[in-house]
Amino acid sequence: LAGAVVLGIETSCDETGVGVVRLRADGHVDLLADEVASSVDEHARFGGVVPEVASRAHLEAMVPTVRRAMAVAGVRPSDVDAVAVTAGPGLAGALLVGVAAAKAYATAWNVPLYGVNHLSAHVAVDTLEHGPLPGPALALLVSGGHSSLLEVADLAGPINQLGATIDDAAGEAFDKVARLLGLPFPGGPHIDRVAREGDPDAIAFPRGLTGPRDPTYDFSFSGLKTAVARWVEAAEREGRSVSVPDVAASFQEAVVDVLTAKTVRAARDRGVDQLIIGGGVAANSRLRSMAEQRCASAGITLRVPRPKLCTDNGAMVAALGAHLLAARVDPSSLDIPADPGLHV
Ligand code: KG4
Ligand code: ZN
Repeated sequence: LAGAVVLGIETSCDETGVGVVRLRADGHVDLLADEVASSVDEHARFGGVVPEVASRAHLEAMVPTVRRAMAVAGVRPSDVDAVAVTAGPGLAGALLVGVAAAKAYATAWNVPLYGVNHLSAHVAVDTLEHGPLPGPALALLVSGGHSSLLEVADLAGPINQLGATIDDAAGEAFDKVARLLGLPFPGGPHIDRVAREGDPDAIAFPRGLTGPRDPTYDFSFSGLKTAVARWVEAAEREGRSVSVPDVAASFQEAVVDVLTAKTVRAARDRGVDQLIIGGGVAANSRLRSMAEQRCASAGITLRVPRPKLCTDNGAMVAALGAHLLAARVDPSSLDIPADPGLHV
């Protein structure tokens, strides 16, 4: 299988991603192309992703993005050895476009099809940057759609979900608080930027599900979002000026504190010393710095892929497909469904 080329398709949300990778004899996977067509600008005026708009954008972008990825990778259809696609979880209509396209390519090219889990793909993408996993790892996946703490023994096997958000995803909390502060969508990068001018200790916002009575690895961010809203309302009512940088920095500190504290505790409890952070929120500068500090003092090796690989893309799907191919996992049947609620 050395030299095998895998094409990966991702359409679970608002990014049409197509990646191409090549498997090496030593188990490394090389990235050949990572093309993303995003419809994020079309959703910005609605303040969130609109499923119908996303599906239509995927349909229009699919074939051109596949063509572009293959041109960048310098591969022809006859070079492709497998097609991988995100089968779920995600938006139903959006997933359907990717799954239908992947089936069409796999059929036309007469190669195996792998329907994969989006969260597992977010974990697998790290191997493109840092090489094969040396052993069991934890993965903290934080994006607009999910916040999960996963335990990964083997990329080709099932992934164990230790915890997840019980309400808003971490990125969703960033986006909602940004909106409250009058910052554009998606708000995460704006909070990150504005917070650099603020004091993270200015306001003591609540840390959800972290008390001694909360032994789980689950997260909750909706109480924090409400606390920020109440704080801003109270300040306005009482005629106090609202320092957007202080609110942003204090909110960000609360999110990052909870994410890193729970993750490091889980790593200790499970005896795992590798941590991968992925998803759009992995780009957050405070999350990166606090995770670095806390992992260093806990003896955990931190692996954070570069931002372009952390957000949704096709390379992550291709990377997981390559690992499945290398592990000789049976391909999916050509009638696999798009599964919006697919579990890890
Ligand atoms: O993974 P992603 O591109 O798409 C999905 O949601 O699946 O993640 C997007 C999310 C948005 O909520 C965005 O606000 C957040 O990631 N994000 C950030 C930062 N950059 C992106 N959140 C905090 N700080 C950032 N620097
Ligand atoms: Zn994602």
